[in-house]
Amino acid sequence: MALQDQLKSTTDIIRQYFAEPIDVGVVLGSGLSNFAGQIEIACEIPYEDIPHFPVSTVKGHKGKLVIGTIGSKRVACLAGRFHFYEGYTPEQVTYPIRVLRALGSKVLLLSNAAGGMNPAFRVGDIMLIRDHISMFQTNPLLGPNDDALGPRFPDMSEPYALQLLALAKKGADSLSIPVHEGVYVGVTGPTFETRAEYKMLHLLGGDAVGMSTVQENIVAQHMGMPVLAMSVITDLGIREDLNTITHEEVLEAANSAEPKMSAIFKYVVEQL
Ligand code: HPA
Repeated sequence: MALQDQLKSTTDIIRQYFAEPIDVGVVLGSGLSNFAGQIEIACEIPYEDIPHFPVSTVKGHKGKLVIGTIGSKRVACLAGRFHFYEGYTPEQVTYPIRVLRALGSKVLLLSNAAGGMNPAFRVGDIMLIRDHISMFQTNPLLGPNDDALGPRFPDMSEPYALQLLALAKKGADSLSIPVHEGVYVGVTGPTFETRAEYKMLHLLGGDAVGMSTVQENIVAQHMGMPVLAMSVITDLGIREDLNTITHEEVLEAANSAEPKMSAIFKYVVEQL
């Protein structure tokens, strides 16, 4: 089935739950799903009830689309995302982003748990993403291009909208939440990095590393949708004394830093 037809059948079903156009799309990373608590919830749709959606397999990812309002803004929030390491194709990983756009989202907010490589970072810190480096050997736009969705060769000079970044910084400031700004390196996972790899990724210009976000960002750029993205630092890759890491530790650190991320996102949504 052509992508456009798939999108239509997906959005037709979602609109039976919530008919109005969405203003803001949000993706919540590992351990960050409590943000949904900020939403005046109109409906929650489990992914298995949404046609053409893959089903999430990772612990800590609830796997539902939460739709409702924050103030006057209509928000659709993916609580649980799809990762390349789960075996999904890049097209499947990014399909929900296309759905958010097709529902009307003018802006995309992405969050993730990430390993810190910048020596100034501590566990629990927030990094606003200014730019990214994709270490994925694949790209969600490989293959024939649907010109109705976006151009063959998308520009990537401002993958994270400077205007949204400035708004997030202003929000963090007014909420007295210290934030870093930096470069996110996207890797496939599912292994965490070796000591040598953390060092290399830092030398390449990365401040934090994680297993999501860049593919979603690429598809958002393809469709001309401005992105704000935020990492919660859950471990410190380049601290040789501290860099053993488990998924449980990532979830725990993300969970405890989640209120800071949620407060900044809420501020941004209200100010849009
Ligand atoms: N590396 C890759 N992905 C991650 C990390 C990390 O250190 N922490 C959380 N997600």
